[in-house]
Amino acid sequence: MSDPKMILKEARELLDKSIISYKGKPVGTVAAKDPDMEILNYDQVFIRDFAVSAVVFLLEGKTDIIKNFLELTLQLQTREKHMDCFRAGSGLMPASFKVFNDDNGDEKLIADYGEQAIAKVVPIDSSFWWIYILHLYTKQSADHSFAKTPEVQNAIRLILDLCLTARLDIFPTLLVPDGSFMIDRRMGVYGYPLEIQVLFVMCLHISVQLLEENDENKEYITGAERRLKILLQHVHDYYWLNMKRIDEIYHFKVEQFGEEAINKFNIYPETIPSWIFHWMPEEGGYFAGNLGPARMDFRFFTSGNLLSVLFSICDGTQSNAIMNVIEERWTDLVGKMPIKLVYPALHDEDWKALTGADPKNIPWSYHNGGAWSFLLWELTVAAIKTGKTELAENAVKIAEKRIAKDKWVEYYDGIQNRLTGRRARRYQTWSIAGYIAAKYLLDDPDKSKLFIIEHDFEFEKENKSLK
Ligand code: GLC
Repeated sequence: MSDPKMILKEARELLDKSIISYKGKPVGTVAAKDPDMEILNYDQVFIRDFAVSAVVFLLEGKTDIIKNFLELTLQLQTREKHMDCFRAGSGLMPASFKVFNDDNGDEKLIADYGEQAIAKVVPIDSSFWWIYILHLYTKQSADHSFAKTPEVQNAIRLILDLCLTARLDIFPTLLVPDGSFMIDRRMGVYGYPLEIQVLFVMCLHISVQLLEENDENKEYITGAERRLKILLQHVHDYYWLNMKRIDEIYHFKVEQFGEEAINKFNIYPETIPSWIFHWMPEEGGYFAGNLGPARMDFRFFTSGNLLSVLFSICDGTQSNAIMNVIEERWTDLVGKMPIKLVYPALHDEDWKALTGADPKNIPWSYHNGGAWSFLLWELTVAAIKTGKTELAENAVKIAEKRIAKDKWVEYYDGIQNRLTGRRARRYQTWSIAGYIAAKYLLDDPDKSKLFIIEHDFEFEKENKSLK
């Protein structure tokens, strides 16, 4: 099938087929419906995956399913406080949930907060995606009363309690274990990964907007506002990489002590990987994948960078520079199917050490340099925002050559994304929804504004965030 109209029609039918109900109401979409693969947990509704379906439903004005989803997941947010602090604190949203029939035939829910997941990874991004869906629903449906209910106000406070808690850290960024977001396997993404920081910015911004001004919320609002400013400045300045910045890092003096240190994180110039010297376009730039003590991850993480455009972590010049990277490195990133999750892949000893020799994440596969078509929606919003709509149009055209023929595969493998993912599922819902959302947005680019977040904030020339 190569007629775009037929592809869209098929996608739309498949999205409907992925919907599941609870107590007679539609509440979410399952991750995948591949009859030929072991189900594992792909019959569950993942919060991060549903965010992409929600984008489609919102663009169609179908807000009921979103409200049902929000109400149901509200009940699943953890509430218990354990003084032993062994389990994740209250406020966590599950990675996924499932509706099943018990022995009496009654419908029941089970949710996974990481205990069931492979390697027991905690879905730190779930609460962030949940709050984004809440914000989109509130904006699009004009139902402002739902966000103001005591239950939702409490849910927002609980999420902030989790993020703005006393901790063993002094960075404004959020310290997380490996696999705490879309990359939910070991991939050297522990510490301060970009995607989590960008989602954290969005969460703080929305919390401030949605929390009612009252005595109970006062401290939360002031705390979130203060953290947001420091966090924005921190990511904007210290994560940024372009040729000028690489040159500065190349000349960094090390072992600097005290407030006046220029090399604040003690990055050793020897850690700059050689590929970046030719890969970084002259007019391009992007946010590093991670930044911690003596550690900068120079890899290009597509989702974190695209979301930083959507959530205005970057100024206009930086947004353009990120889109320039995608344009100039089109063959590496988009190739035969949009778009690589990470560039470049980890090889050899790095692959062994950082993934734990994970056979699913061999070089240029899955998270380690595979291409994921669900990212089409993020790419489209970012392209429209930066006036580079043609990039998204071209990416969609490339996707249309194969996406339906390949049965909406979860991801693609290979240096230029020419192979269907070795262990990928077919009929993956967010591949389907990502494509539909991109088509709708290209058809009516004005609608992309709904997904953008702007801050009432001017970046300072001199960063004082770590002083
Ligand atoms: C994989 C992905 C994860 C996604 C899940 C369901 O585990 O790594 O990000 O949420 O599949 O599609």
